[in-house]
Amino acid sequence: MPLLVTEIELKEIEVQVRRRLKPLLDSGIRLRVVETIASTNAALKSQALMSNQTLLLAREQTAGVGRRGSLWQSPPAGNLYLSYCVHSGRPLNELSLWSLGVTVAVADALERELSLDCKIKWPNDLYVQGMKVGGVLLETLSLAGDDVAVVIGIGLNVASHPDPDLLQRPVTCISKHTDRSVDLPMIAALVAAAVVDMCRLSHAVLQAWLMSSWPSRDLLLNQPVAVPMLGEGLGIARGLSPDGGLEVEFAGKPRTVYAGEVNLGHVDTE
Ligand code: BTN
Repeated sequence: MPLLVTEIELKEIEVQVRRRLKPLLDSGIRLRVVETIASTNAALKSQALMSNQTLLLAREQTAGVGRRGSLWQSPPAGNLYLSYCVHSGRPLNELSLWSLGVTVAVADALERELSLDCKIKWPNDLYVQGMKVGGVLLETLSLAGDDVAVVIGIGLNVASHPDPDLLQRPVTCISKHTDRSVDLPMIAALVAAAVVDMCRLSHAVLQAWLMSSWPSRDLLLNQPVAVPMLGEGLGIARGLSPDGGLEVEFAGKPRTVYAGEVNLGHVDTE
């Protein structure tokens, strides 16, 4: 039976990603590339036991998940939907820095390869010129003993982005901000390598690297912010705490935020 055009395109994407990731794949990392899937994170979670060191890339997600259970629009329009599952015996307080680590690693890679000035809105939102370009969703599942399966999902608007009016927030895509030609295999390989490398860092190295690189990535630094969960009104964001929280000063008193939404510049009444 003749191959469909989409099957040929998919095969070509896989060939190119495999070529770019050869050293990683030779080191034992596995790669699956699929046309359509509900969610790459959900798929790896459902097969977590068998998915150690597995990258899963999809051209389309029909039920992509964002942080706090929101929908992550994932049409087959040249954008990145990638997840990586890795088993780890590290304690949860160490793993809690990984989602920040992945976000900074992706921002660094985009800046290095595409000269994108990429900022991060704590904890996991990637921004270019004040507009969201992507995000990271890290989920964990307990395995036998103290082991944990960590599933790291990265969504990046590469060639297109959702309608900002429908989303009710500014959004953009990478291709609008670089002169370099960007395509899915190139971005997938770049991001996959950055994520796998980050997971291999020791805790001490990750912590030191995060603390030194965060200030230049921090979209919120010294900005007025509202943290609806605290019900405190406006505070001033003061950067990252060593355990990955966001330091916010309310009426001169420092507090560390570990969860919930942080909004720029206005008190959100949601
Ligand atoms: C966010 O809300 O900013 C995080 C979005 C994470 C989306 C990615 S796309 C690949 C992976 N699979 C999912 O269902 N979600 C993540």
